[in-house]
Amino acid sequence: MMSYGYKPELSEGAIKCPIFLTSTFVFKSAEEGKAFFELAYGKREKNPGEEMGLIYSRINNPDLEILENRLRLWDEAEDCAVFESGMSAISTVLLEFLKPGDLLLYSSPTYGGTDHFINHFLPKIGVHTLGFTSDMEEQELTDHIKASGMSHKLAHVHLETPANPTNSLIDVTMCRRVADQFVTADKPVTIAVDNTYMGPLWQHPLKLGADLVMYSATKYIGGHSDLIAGAVLGNAENMGRVKTLRTFLGNMASPHTGWMLLRSLETLKIRMEAMQTNAIHVANFLNEHSKVTAVKYLGLIKEGTRDYDIYKRQCSGPGAMVTFFIDGGEKEAFKFLNSLKLVKLAVSLGGTESLAEHPKSMTHAGVADEHLAHIGVTDALVRLSIGVEHYEDIIWDISQALEEVKIEKQVTA
Ligand SMILES: Cc1ncc(COP(=O)(O)O)c(C=O)c1O
Repeated sequence: MMSYGYKPELSEGAIKCPIFLTSTFVFKSAEEGKAFFELAYGKREKNPGEEMGLIYSRINNPDLEILENRLRLWDEAEDCAVFESGMSAISTVLLEFLKPGDLLLYSSPTYGGTDHFINHFLPKIGVHTLGFTSDMEEQELTDHIKASGMSHKLAHVHLETPANPTNSLIDVTMCRRVADQFVTADKPVTIAVDNTYMGPLWQHPLKLGADLVMYSATKYIGGHSDLIAGAVLGNAENMGRVKTLRTFLGNMASPHTGWMLLRSLETLKIRMEAMQTNAIHVANFLNEHSKVTAVKYLGLIKEGTRDYDIYKRQCSGPGAMVTFFIDGGEKEAFKFLNSLKLVKLAVSLGGTESLAEHPKSMTHAGVADEHLAHIGVTDALVRLSIGVEHYEDIIWDISQALEEVKIEKQVTA
């Protein structure tokens, strides 16, 4: 993560990749410019040993290329594209792999912004959408798709696992088997997984049968709550499509963001490991607390359950996102959030500082109420993103904020 893909001799010996704040690149000759464009537009295959040259920062830029090459390593992907936000990564994939009349299958809950794009934008361009929940087993899911009457149109599957904010798990390999039943001679069914919650460290969806993996790089990859970015990874063919649409939507990350992400990658692993260690302590503390009715954390899934089996097959660690239900409702949840002193009351996740939020009224406010109830996003649910502070400080803060919450028990005569 510190040197891969960067050649100091191309940048006056600078030990770190400089920020290439330039819109365009000077060609050595008109012939060279023509050759670069032939490759950029796929007019011919590369000659042996030929590399794609730098043209224009909407198409390619050294900071983004080096970043993409480094990100590829985590997921062992053939190619990567970085975007100006996680939402632009996700929406570009949905737009590229779906067309009017197609059916999209998606796991629910999903991040509120993604849910909005799926349920409010895609129908406007004639894409049909069908949600499913983590409790559905293989046959049930297959029947659910058939019952939609649109199974012959299934073209793309969007999965988010673990799901934001409930930490519920979707079996990616099972979804691959289900999706493959609906492949026809003229139509593949692609699967894209939003891997934001696990970051590039704790889960590798391409190895589980997904075609594409997507990230809000704003979260763990950026990791310092100071930028917005996204990434998509997959095989060369699918990424060729994603990169082409990115070129024409013009939603690539800026060179400055690319440079900041390069710096973040150097500490990605140690940051994420420190956060996870802290999260395990926090989850165990909450699990024993009398004002907490339940904790949703991957590290607390009971052995022998279906979820435990999925967790063990898919994830190499429980991560740093802890969701819990406070004893009470919105009033008690808000009292807790307003009483925090060290943990910041803010949306987003995966940054060095611990954050707390109330999904029902904040990140998932746009999701229909009856749907929120169905997926277990209640007034009592609080989401924590655990940072790199000392875990005793985080627990001290959570403990004192819970002390401030007065639970009013109904007294029955
Ligand atoms: C799981 C998940 N996916 C995608 C996004 C969207 O990413 P961005 O805010 O970088 O556009 C978020 C943001 O919170 C998220 O939590």
